[in-house]
Amino acid sequence: MNRPNLQFAPGAVLGIETSCDDTAAAVLEGGRVLSSVVAAQADHLPFDGVVPELASRAHVRLLGPVVRQALAEAGRSWEDLAGVAATHAPGLIGSLLVGLTFAKGAAASRGLPFVGVNHLEAHLLSVLLDRPEVRPPLVALLASGGHSEVVLARAWHRYRILGSTRDDAAGEAFDKVASLLDLGFPGGPAIDRLAAAGNPQAVRFPRAWLDPETLDFSFSGLKTAVRNNVAAAGGAGKLTEGERADVAASFQEAVVEVLAAKTLRAAEREGVGTVVLAGGVAANRSLRVRLETACRERGWTFAVPSLRYCGDNAAMVALAGSLRLAAGERSPWSLAAVPTLAATAFGEPA
Ligand code: KG4
Ligand code: ZN
Repeated sequence: MNRPNLQFAPGAVLGIETSCDDTAAAVLEGGRVLSSVVAAQADHLPFDGVVPELASRAHVRLLGPVVRQALAEAGRSWEDLAGVAATHAPGLIGSLLVGLTFAKGAAASRGLPFVGVNHLEAHLLSVLLDRPEVRPPLVALLASGGHSEVVLARAWHRYRILGSTRDDAAGEAFDKVASLLDLGFPGGPAIDRLAAAGNPQAVRFPRAWLDPETLDFSFSGLKTAVRNNVAAAGGAGKLTEGERADVAASFQEAVVEVLAAKTLRAAEREGVGTVVLAGGVAANRSLRVRLETACRERGWTFAVPSLRYCGDNAAMVALAGSLRLAAGERSPWSLAAVPTLAATAFGEPA
């Protein structure tokens, strides 16, 4: 099998991630994470969701100190850096602009190479932080608060999106159902915890398989079914702790079953024996176990980042940036922040 060594930039790379509500900076050197600082913004806690304008302002406030901390923890100064990488797409436009502008300014003023990174590619590549031996061809499930995609990677930087959500992202569904159950925000970790005490077969929530051949997802009907179920009981306040756990476990089961089945079907269809799970929802214990077990049964390789690299972080951005810098890639100073996931912005067609 073709397993060439990964080529990293010769020297330390600073990564910056500000696509949503985590302000993050990290230093990576030769594939080794020297520091990874993530400041989760507390500004959104009263709102049951991310408030874009508050996120941008918090990034402005937090990014300078977070970058200084990342450099200090890594024991590196600006003079030691071989380049700067920042997420430029997709995400909240105001949030992206803060990190991207900071990174460009820092790189330009210090004469450092700069490269923009796609957030989804960074999530995909984050498996390499713990499992540097993983290689394409592979099928990846990228599931987060903003995205749910099944992606085929024939080679690094060559991706094809095989399926996406048609409405809510998986993490968004977790967050909305957590809100219905009065569990706070972000909801994924809370549902994951509560579901462990519940019966996943207690309520048979609908699975949106859509048309038989598609690898797309839909979670909005499931969310409505949970809302109706909770309303029929008289509201979340009327549920016993055991009943809430049953609803959480049954909802989680519906999401995990569909995500896992479509990912496995994609790998089978493409004849690929490596499956990667990444993104914030990759922290979900049930999903990790489901895919790991299924891959083991099939004799496939399964790779998922350690928990600290599932959610948004800048180590994955530094890694994606380091690989691109090593390949000689440089982004122009005119590189724009792009809120949406343009298929062409996510690597080249596989
Ligand atoms: O990748 P991420 O940090 O940010 C985006 O790029 O969106 O993902 C955040 C999402 C949130 O929706 C959060 O509820 C979800 O990941 N999440 C989880 C778990 N931990 C975080 N969802 C299910 N189970 C978890 N354990
Ligand atoms: Zn993310």
